[in-house]
Amino acid sequence: MPVEFDAAVFTTPEAPLTIERVSLPDTPPPGEVLVRLKASGVCHSDFHALIGEWEVPAPMILGHEGAGIVESVGDGVTTLVEGDHVVLSWTPSCRRCRYCVGGRPVLCDMVSRHSANHLAFDGRTRVTSAGEQDVYSFAGLGTFGQYTLVPESAAIAIRDDAPFEQSALIGCAVTTGVGAVVNTAKVRPSDTVLVLGCGGVGLNAIQGARLVGARQIIAADISDQKLDQARVFGATDLVNSGRENLADRVHQLTGGRGVEVAVEAIGLPRTIESAYEVLARGGTAVVAGQVADGVRISIDPFVMSDQELSLIGSNYGSSKPDVDFPLLVDHYMHDRIDLDSLVTRVIDLTDINEAFDDMKRGIGIRSVIKY
Ligand SMILES: NC(=O)c1ccc[n+]([C@@H]2O[C@H](COP(=O)([O-])OP(=O)(O)OC[C@H]3O[C@@H](n4cnc5c(N)ncnc54)[C@H](O)[C@@H]3O)[C@@H](O)[C@H]2O)c1
Ligand SMILES: [Zn+2]
Ligand SMILES: [Zn+2]
Repeated sequence: MPVEFDAAVFTTPEAPLTIERVSLPDTPPPGEVLVRLKASGVCHSDFHALIGEWEVPAPMILGHEGAGIVESVGDGVTTLVEGDHVVLSWTPSCRRCRYCVGGRPVLCDMVSRHSANHLAFDGRTRVTSAGEQDVYSFAGLGTFGQYTLVPESAAIAIRDDAPFEQSALIGCAVTTGVGAVVNTAKVRPSDTVLVLGCGGVGLNAIQGARLVGARQIIAADISDQKLDQARVFGATDLVNSGRENLADRVHQLTGGRGVEVAVEAIGLPRTIESAYEVLARGGTAVVAGQVADGVRISIDPFVMSDQELSLIGSNYGSSKPDVDFPLLVDHYMHDRIDLDSLVTRVIDLTDINEAFDDMKRGIGIRSVIKY
């Protein structure tokens, strides 16, 4: 008997997601696990797809920030058993390619070939609609539905005393934000860090900088509410870049030096350029925000060589989900990172379109679907 469930399905850009009855085979194929989702966050990357800033295939179940329980495992699965609590990773790894073996699993060959195209590792979809149509799953996960069938390496076991709503956020915003600071930029206690954009990703970059003891953490956003939150997550200085000139304020706050690390967590060309322009000599700008398809930026390469500046990308916080997810759960359980304040609204799947309205209007941090 196939597993039937409701899912929020994307059909065309700008149209609201529709709740549809879909199904999955109940027996996982070899190497895959069936997961019953308990919670899913709603991330800005889903929004990029929803409004057509990213071209994605349809119909597709959106959502990629989930936590749940392993319902059943396919042949050959060795690291998970039924009943395990898991956080889902949108960069499942083959554990064999040059990137996996080289310690950069988010760049895995299988991810770029299949998960990034919203497919399973065999290049096919798993979910079927009532009309027998194939349905894509965002990043191979599709967490806006109660079940998902994923490669073993996409489900990372975590301790079973951690709450699902908070743990789900480790599946994207937390790992991305904390990792951009800790893994990609390798921030040191002597560094001043600027975080541009204080949404789900940016606030986690801020608390990542606090976790590693950064000397000064400057938060910038155009929303005063988000800046109030930035303070809660560890920012030492706040800049409303809608009202104040960011470069002037950073100059003033750093004694004219600039910042050692600037993390862009918005996804706009102008703010990526700003992050680069406020660096101290030898500084690093990290692009964590993701832009709409086709966007380009402009920087001064003379300054780049003269001052040894770096501009680097960060995918999933340059993380190693197998070890980083359980680590982040431990940090949360020991009160070293705050996941509770990130969850500003708990919703039913049927309220999914309201969550995107809130995101558009800048209300709250993360809406989390509870199944
Ligand atoms: N690199 C990755 O692996 C990765 C992973 C997840 C998300 N992302 C991307 O990160 C970005 C942020 O995602 P999120 O979920 O945190 O989004 P969000 O909507 O929660 O937050 C965006 C924040 O940016 C602020 N903002 C908007 N325009 C601004 C401007 N001009 N100047 C200053 N602040 C501005 C908003 O007020 C908001 O606080 C998105 O582009 C998303 O796709 C990247
Ligand atoms: Zn995301
Ligand atoms: Zn690989």
